[in-house]
Amino acid sequence: MTDIQLPQFPEPFWRDSVSLPSFPKLEQSINVDVGIVGGGITGITAAYLLSKQNVNVTLIDAGVILNGTTGHTTAKITAQHGLIYDELIQHFGQDKASQYYQAADDAQKLIQETISSLAIDCDFQKEDAYIYTNSDSYISQLENEKKAYDKLNIQSQLTETIPLDIPLKSALIMKDQAQFHPLRYLKVLVEESAKNGVQFFENTTATDIEHNKHPAIITRDGNRISCDNIIIATQFPFYDKEGFYFARMYQDRSYVLAVKSPKTFPGGMYINAETPTRSIRTTSMNGEDLWLIGGENHKTGTGQSTIEHYNALHSFAAEYVGIDQIPYRWSAQDITTLDKVPYIGPITDNNDAIFVATGYRKWGMTNGTVAAKVISDRITQKENQYEDLYSPSRFQADPSIRKFASINADVAKHLIKGKLEYTENNINKLAADDATVTRIGGKRAGVYKDEGESLHMVDTTCTHMGCEVEWNSGDRTWDCPCHGSRFSYTGEVVTGPATKPLSKIDPE
Ligand code: FES
Repeated sequence: MTDIQLPQFPEPFWRDSVSLPSFPKLEQSINVDVGIVGGGITGITAAYLLSKQNVNVTLIDAGVILNGTTGHTTAKITAQHGLIYDELIQHFGQDKASQYYQAADDAQKLIQETISSLAIDCDFQKEDAYIYTNSDSYISQLENEKKAYDKLNIQSQLTETIPLDIPLKSALIMKDQAQFHPLRYLKVLVEESAKNGVQFFENTTATDIEHNKHPAIITRDGNRISCDNIIIATQFPFYDKEGFYFARMYQDRSYVLAVKSPKTFPGGMYINAETPTRSIRTTSMNGEDLWLIGGENHKTGTGQSTIEHYNALHSFAAEYVGIDQIPYRWSAQDITTLDKVPYIGPITDNNDAIFVATGYRKWGMTNGTVAAKVISDRITQKENQYEDLYSPSRFQADPSIRKFASINADVAKHLIKGKLEYTENNINKLAADDATVTRIGGKRAGVYKDEGESLHMVDTTCTHMGCEVEWNSGDRTWDCPCHGSRFSYTGEVVTGPATKPLSKIDPE
């Protein structure tokens, strides 16, 4: 590792390089055609597509728009979603695997057409996507993936050399993919949607949905958004009905460093097949290349101190990229479903009014755009060929059952483990900008000491389903290992499915 320091606080380059509009809080009950919860790529693209067809839409966000995973992505617009096509052919058959590719390819085209029709300046650039390995045991997997590409007529090439100077044994290229600045793109979609009549509200938390004759979103302040249709675009659905989403998905975190390097970037977007994950692309910062070095995935709320993950990327960048400066670091949260295909569609198979879109793994630019198109087509009663593939009610016996058992055994383990843990009260030894878990008044308590030496104490019992949260030193948040909810050090919800803050604890 070099002596060039990581930034003290996480902040994504995307948010720091665009000026986004802000919106008021919802202060009254309203009636609309479609209520959307969540201001990321799914919600905003759906709002844009629906509003172009004169549908009356309102979108709310619990915080500010574009500050969830969409604001923290690596923003690759690609159908190369890691090693996936060989597996999809095995589990779903060639037709469905082909549809998955076509849907991602259509999403790329939709993004490109939108950029041209609205003349959006968002650094959109065509690039080849590479998945590479430096491990002997992954070479045959890349070969099998290449065979799957050939079966699906995906333009590709298996190679032992790539333009980037990193050690590798084999790489599979998917030609003609793309990258962009996601927030410059989505900012224009927000502005266009607003011109088409979409109302945006920020700092407006949805806490429930009531479903009588028509569904209604209930906000924390008790206001109602009555609508014909609701789209839950909150990444992890904040409302589950009887869909049991919490039991059939898991969340993991990954990290990004934005690095200025003395080297010239040769083009391309790269990701390795093995773990730990390494992902590399560049973007432009004031006319200079900014290398985005990502990876280090782990299940949310588990594993080593999160700052160690940034350190591992730092070491990788120092060894293979060269570091002049590290202007930004940030992390993101992704959700994976039992069979790795997103859940997009009606929340349960007998509910045609409430839609969910979740489980994009790391591929939210394409999957979020697919979701917006599939759901907006359904609402405007247009046929969409991808509906069945993504239906949340689908059932794939293998390997879902094993995975289902492992996700839920893990949740049970964390529920019990967290309750049994007992730590000595060591608040006095706590350094500034550090946290500990202790017991205060018999309750497990999370204590963070800020830089001004003030203590922030919260009850560590997650308000979703009662697991115990763990400290995330990289982002200064309390993260839940069960379904991935995250809370600020003052207890506010940062990421669902939890909708209620952690209880604050007063010092004894
Ligand atoms: Fe489900 Fe915490 S996110 S218990």
